[in-house]
Order: sequence, then C-alpha cells, then structure tokens
Amino acid sequence: MRRKLVVGNWKMNGSLAQLGEVAAVAAAAKEAAGVDVAICPPFTLIASSVARSAGLPIGAQDCHHAESGAHTGNVSAGMLKEAGARLVIVGHSERRAEQHESDALVRAKAEAALRHGLTAIVCVGESEAQREAGDAVAIVTRQLRGSLPAEAGEGELVVAYEPIWAIGTGKTATPADVAEMHKAIRGHLLENFGDRGGRVRILYGGSVKADNAAILFAFDDVDGALVGGASLTAAQFVPIVEAARG
Ligand code: PGA
Repeated sequence: MRRKLVVGNWKMNGSLAQLGEVAAVAAAAKEAAGVDVAICPPFTLIASSVARSAGLPIGAQDCHHAESGAHTGNVSAGMLKEAGARLVIVGHSERRAEQHESDALVRAKAEAALRHGLTAIVCVGESEAQREAGDAVAIVTRQLRGSLPAEAGEGELVVAYEPIWAIGTGKTATPADVAEMHKAIRGHLLENFGDRGGRVRILYGGSVKADNAAILFAFDDVDGALVGGASLTAAQFVPIVEAARG
C-alpha cells in the first residue's frame, strides 16, 4: 500500500512575506493522517521555510549533479541537504525546455539527490504534438529509460507524470489517459526495478485543483500530485491534500 504524496511546486514564486502559507499547510497536514505533504519553494526560501514548516518536508526544484566546484549559479544536493531540504524535483519540463536539460543530465541529478538521502522527484511528460501523434506512452517510456537512476540510493525515488500541455493551462489529461499512462509507468518500474518498482510513488501533475484531484487520486497507480499554481496558497492547496485522504 503506497501512501499518497502531495507536493507543492512554487516555481519562481513566493517571498518571505508568503511563508505564512507554509505554516498554514504544515498545520493542516498534521491533521491529514495518512498523506505525505511537502512544499518546494525557490532556493532562497528553503531555509526560512524549514524554520516555519514545523516538520513539514521542504524541498527544492532542482539541483546540480556535482558535489561542488566551478558551476556558477548552481546548487548541489549536499547544499540543499544542509539547508534542511528533504526532497528535490529534477527534470521538470520547464527546466528541460528553458535550460535544455537532457535525460542523461536529469538522471545524474537524481543520482546526486539520492546519494544525499534526498527524495528525488523525476518528472516526465509529453508535449501536445506528441500526444496528438499517438506517441505519448513511447515518449514517456523513453524519458524514464534515460532519466531514472539505475539504482535507488539512500533516498526515495518518486516519478511525476506531467503532460506538458496540461501545466499551468487549466487543461488536465482525461482520467482515462492518466490511468493509461500511470499503468505504463508502473509497468516500466516493475520491469526495471522489480519489487522496488512497485513501491515507487507516481504523482500526476498539470493543473491539479481541488475540484479534479479526487477523480485522479481514485486510480490505483496515481499516488499523489505535483501541484504548481494551486500550491501557492493554503486555501487552494489544503483541499487537494484533503482529497488525497480519500
Ligand atoms: P500547475 O503546475 O499545477 O500550475 O499546472 C504543475 C507543475 O508544473 O508541477
């Protein structure tokens, strides 16, 4: 039985003035027994979020694959760990597009995160054109093959399926499409990681809101959500956490 996991991805949003939202989510999450909740604010807010989170796990939205060195502007997994982060999102489609991140780079980042005992949330997802061409499952399978670490390290591996065309657009994949894709991802995990693949949580992401979360969470292989826009306020995020309690 996999526990549901609901993760907020603040993207490049938020400021010290909004850390009350972290505290409010933390208070609500304490009541939501049986659901794991986390928030990933920008790097600059990680340490102060940890201070306000009363134990609610705080994560980052990216890490560098190296331990340290001449990588101006980057932050390593070890640095995140030291700042109090417990998880990190890698390979988000916005980074794959804006920073030209390849599957191999995403895998190296995930491996670095796991080496430091962080939970690595590896994102995959197809574009609208790829879905319309009937290639969605093939594309996602290729991303999984290229982006997932060969072995889970000390940290937990999580997969997030986020169809690119559903992110921030208000469009969500149909429940049938989500179910089909999550089943395909589970198949890949079982084939490549054996029993451990059965324990990997698979999140759905892309315009998840309070009013569509329950339908998505009802599927066997939807183990939670990666939430962007609706994670910025406790008022919108907490009902999604509630929906995950079933
Ligand atoms: P959204 O973003 O919920 O705003 O669509 C999800 C994500 O990109 O993680």
